[in-house]
Amino acid sequence: MTAITLEQPFDPAAARHRPNPHPLFHRMRRHAPVYGYVSPASGRVLWYLTRYADVQRVLLDPDVGRQLDRLAPDLAAPHRRAESRDPLAMLRRNVFHLDPPDHTRIRRLMAPAFGVRTVAVLERHVNRVAGELVDGMAAAGGEADLIRDLALPLPILVVAELLGLPFEDRARLRGWSDEIVGSGDPLRVRRAGMEFMAYANERIEERRAHPGDDLLSRLAEAERAGGISRIELVSSVFQLLLAGDETTVNLIGNGVLELLRHPRQLERLRACPELIGSMVEEALRYNGPVGHSRPLYALADVEIGGVVIPRGDIVVPVLLAANRDPAVFPRPDLFDIGRSPNRHLGFGHGAHFCLGAALARLQAAAAIGALLRRFPGIDLAVDPAGLEWTPDLFLHGVRRLPLRLRARE
Ligand code: HEM
Repeated sequence: MTAITLEQPFDPAAARHRPNPHPLFHRMRRHAPVYGYVSPASGRVLWYLTRYADVQRVLLDPDVGRQLDRLAPDLAAPHRRAESRDPLAMLRRNVFHLDPPDHTRIRRLMAPAFGVRTVAVLERHVNRVAGELVDGMAAAGGEADLIRDLALPLPILVVAELLGLPFEDRARLRGWSDEIVGSGDPLRVRRAGMEFMAYANERIEERRAHPGDDLLSRLAEAERAGGISRIELVSSVFQLLLAGDETTVNLIGNGVLELLRHPRQLERLRACPELIGSMVEEALRYNGPVGHSRPLYALADVEIGGVVIPRGDIVVPVLLAANRDPAVFPRPDLFDIGRSPNRHLGFGHGAHFCLGAALARLQAAAAIGALLRRFPGIDLAVDPAGLEWTPDLFLHGVRRLPLRLRARE
């Protein structure tokens, strides 16, 4: 089988595909499910995977990894050059970017903080904040931006709570997160990264002196015991702020958008509010917040679906595409809030499966549930074709979602 059977080389991550990437993914899955694209910027081949089975397989394959430097140092030089231009390279010593044994060591330190107990403790806090935010939207009259007024403020508070960072710091945390994800300017990204590192170092020192019952205290204690280095610790805090923030924003945003685009499903949810959990799963599948997992490296020649991916090339498992694979999901383009089974890959798969999945589900259900209870009438205030989507394929969501609201008296 040849790797590329679509006529023209094309970039699946190009901004023009963002509003609705699914027709392209269907074509790729049918004609070139293992599609190699030569990046003009780096000259390297990126292999895009669009079949569910292939995505799932590479996320379990030890020959496809994240730490080229350690596992295949002979191949790392060109990547290292690219990294030296990356203003955040030093903040990449965290679970997302590591393989075993470093990955296993740090993930084990973090995992207990995401357990059932934490979720139960945070549940009340999340419901209260979601309720206050929708009250604020009601007080502002009939118009609101769902992203600005509900989806954005909630997750940063939850991550700050989880880490034990002071409530008053949320504006600064929000600012760094926005600069780093959204500014697109390497100088501003570097400045925000440096400011964040100085901030994190101060908070870590505080926790060492006065430990509490939070994730940062737990990690600071692990550092004292030699289980994690300072740069790994700062990098983990940083990544948690990003991982837990924009993803959750997009889940709330995309979930509400799909309900408004599918009024019968919205009515169904209003009639059966207990479907909220299953609706959130369908939002994760149908138009999930994360386009692809972190790009991986082939650490050996790897055969996928009859195509041999050479050692050193980059593999991009496209979660959004896997989640519409008709081999796994009957009528994949149907948004069905009662879909069962629904084994989507919206939270990834395997050793790197999202640690915050339970927290993300909780926040999305709380925010969307509160919105529907407060407003019996919700309409999009703009034409959906005019919505602005995030420009790259990694995160998938809209920047604004203007709504017209009719509140319950
Ligand atoms: C990993 C999705 C929310 C923490 C991941 C991965 C995905 C994902 C796809 C795997 C990435 C890969 O394989 O490269 C999501 C989605 C979210 C969400 C869709 C919201 C809707 C959160 C939250 C937190 C969090 C709220 C924490 C507060 C993490 C961490 C990892 C991770 C720490 C790395 C795990 C590892 O590499 O071992 N997430 N996430 N996520 N997520 Fe989430």
